[in-house]
Amino acid sequence: MRTLASFSCALLLCSVSAFGQNGLAAKPPMGWNSWNHFAGHVTDADVRSAADELVSTGMRDAGYVYVNVDDTWQGERDAQGVLHTNSRFPDMKALGDYIHSKGLKFGIYSSPGAKTCGGYAGSLGHEAQDAKMYASWGVDFLKYDLCSFQDNMNQAKAEHPNDPNAAKDLMIAAYRKMGDALKATGRPILYSLCQYGVDQPWKWGPGLGANMWRTTDDIDDSYGRMIAIGFSQAGLSKYAAPGHWNDPDMLEVGNGKMTEDEYKTHMSLWVILAAPLLAGNDLSKMSDSDKSILMNKDAIAIDQDSLGKQGDRLYESGDLDVWTKPLSGGRVAVGLFNRSWSVREVSVDLAAIGFRNGGNVRDVWEQKDMGQRKGVVTETLPKHGAALLIVSK
Ligand code: GLA
Repeated sequence: MRTLASFSCALLLCSVSAFGQNGLAAKPPMGWNSWNHFAGHVTDADVRSAADELVSTGMRDAGYVYVNVDDTWQGERDAQGVLHTNSRFPDMKALGDYIHSKGLKFGIYSSPGAKTCGGYAGSLGHEAQDAKMYASWGVDFLKYDLCSFQDNMNQAKAEHPNDPNAAKDLMIAAYRKMGDALKATGRPILYSLCQYGVDQPWKWGPGLGANMWRTTDDIDDSYGRMIAIGFSQAGLSKYAAPGHWNDPDMLEVGNGKMTEDEYKTHMSLWVILAAPLLAGNDLSKMSDSDKSILMNKDAIAIDQDSLGKQGDRLYESGDLDVWTKPLSGGRVAVGLFNRSWSVREVSVDLAAIGFRNGGNVRDVWEQKDMGQRKGVVTETLPKHGAALLIVSK
């Protein structure tokens, strides 16, 4: 009996780590989120049109299925504690139905604090009630953003000056509470932690059912911020696995303040990182270049590869960086990056990444096979540019 019990337990633990506790996010989640473009002005109509555009542009069929309403949808709580929407979102259930009717999934946003980052009502003290309401609306994804809960943490720190973990324990308990509330609804709801990497959520997130967790503070549509976040992910690869992923924040591709080469660098880094791919642009105004970056099939396949391994830095030399990501079938994705302000050559030695006898090389952005190569492969990259290669035997 003892042997049997510990065997089942081992099996249970195995299934938790392989698929996540709710069976979701076997691959890094893909979709669209309202924040990076619409921020606090988002409306029901914007979200419906994003759902339409996901279908008409081919984004849905490329894998972008979550339609996530970020902060600022909330109104006031009534005497029963029920949170109502504000006038920009007249009927969340109808919005969810519309999104589902397009073959897409519906995401929403809240905070463990009394207030969200935008100053709207958070879920503090109403976790189970809110989770049930989301489930009744058909919600498939919750982003849970720390925001004003940092005040509660500061208070815990002040009240327990000798306990170095007081704030951290309180925060983890708050995230566990909503995780449990989501589970109790019986509806599989993808759980996305957003607390900017405070206290290493990659270490405790999986234990409370998180499917992804932000690793850093917010991205913005600038090359400097994007690479600061992207290249700071070195060393985190061991914490990502099917069911739960590191999240270096949403995509800025198409928002207009980076060059095409810089957006290719952004997408190259994010797919090497097996990051959730949540587009954050106005889908009704995508240029051909935005589409070709966001919908490059090989790039998406690197992100979504069935091996489920995050990539990591191979080496860094001044402004040049080489990152690799192991792929299924013994293949390897290679990201070559030029962070300098001039054209530079960046190389990778195939022998150093497991291809002593050479391999077939495909250039993802050029969409062309470079044929059988051996030894050092060199790419000439424009300033802030990247090459993305897939090497196979
Ligand atoms: C925080 C999050 C952002 C966004 C805003 C909304 O800054 O990190 O992604 O959700 O809040 O207020």
